[in-house]
Amino acid sequence: MPELISLKNIESAVVRLTEGGMVAFPTETVYGLGGNAYSDDVVANIFAIKNRPTANPVSVCYASLEASTSDVVITDTAWEIAEKFLPGPITLVLKRTEKSKISRLCSAGADTIGIRVPANAVALDLLQRLPFPLAAPSANRSGQLSHTTPQEVANDLFGIDIIDGGRCERGIESTIVDCSGPQLRILRQGAITMEEIALQCAIPFEKLIIAEKTKQFLLGKRVILNAETITANDALLAFGPQLSNECKYTLNLSESGDINEAARNFFSMLFRLAQKEDVQTIRVMPIPQEGIGKAINARLKSLLR
Ligand code: TXA
Ligand code: MG
Repeated sequence: MPELISLKNIESAVVRLTEGGMVAFPTETVYGLGGNAYSDDVVANIFAIKNRPTANPVSVCYASLEASTSDVVITDTAWEIAEKFLPGPITLVLKRTEKSKISRLCSAGADTIGIRVPANAVALDLLQRLPFPLAAPSANRSGQLSHTTPQEVANDLFGIDIIDGGRCERGIESTIVDCSGPQLRILRQGAITMEEIALQCAIPFEKLIIAEKTKQFLLGKRVILNAETITANDALLAFGPQLSNECKYTLNLSESGDINEAARNFFSMLFRLAQKEDVQTIRVMPIPQEGIGKAINARLKSLLR
């Protein structure tokens, strides 16, 4: 039987992972589905349970960037970003070392590995207890939204043990920075903005480019952004003072207009509205293009495609 593992019992997650199993665990961004990154069999199982295309690489979680030095070549810029932001919501894409023990399945045919050091006490405790890093994509079936609570993970991935760490603090996936070439490429906008990285690490803006990949979600509803009007048959994802309550369902990301609170609620509320069978359209009020709001807007735009 799958288990909702309490924090008192984290050792049982260590046992499960050491035996070659998978465990979902909290990070500060979204829940991850972890398994031994050194094992081809385990990583193959992660791809299988998520129904993930094998061409999509899987990032690897470590307790520190230092712990990854035998598996990836850490560039000066990567050390600098780490010093300012890690542990934290940034994934660094770095070249594999020749002696890297990370399963090649994580690299999906490339010569790089995405390295993540999550700023979550439970995740770090778990990683410190394990003799291997964790291959850990978001804990959802491929194409579905990421999850920020253990209950949502349990409903999406049947039969998986989950460490209960409550709701994720940031709520939006990490910023992915490809440091493997001469230019830094932002492959996914996330909790930390490109501007923050450039500023804090004194990286000239022309060295940073946004190269986001398109992502497909299976929301199953029409989404209208920057909603200024509502209709009785639609659902509304509100932000700040509401337009009105005259639609079928309304959830407010943050009544006080706090962008960080909105990020924490984003995936859960969007998911709950998408579950409503008697709604075809979800209208979303304007989300300010500031801080983590940029990452929210990037995800909303991908729902339109
Ligand atoms: O916040 C996060 O990053 C969460 C938590 C669980 O750590 N993880 C997450 O994993 O969002 P996932 O697999 O859903 O998204 C990671 C993205 C994928 O889209 C993958 O394409 C990209 O990171 N990625 C991983 N390794 C890469 C690599 N070597 N080169 C380029 N992209 C990579
Ligand atoms: Mg994902």
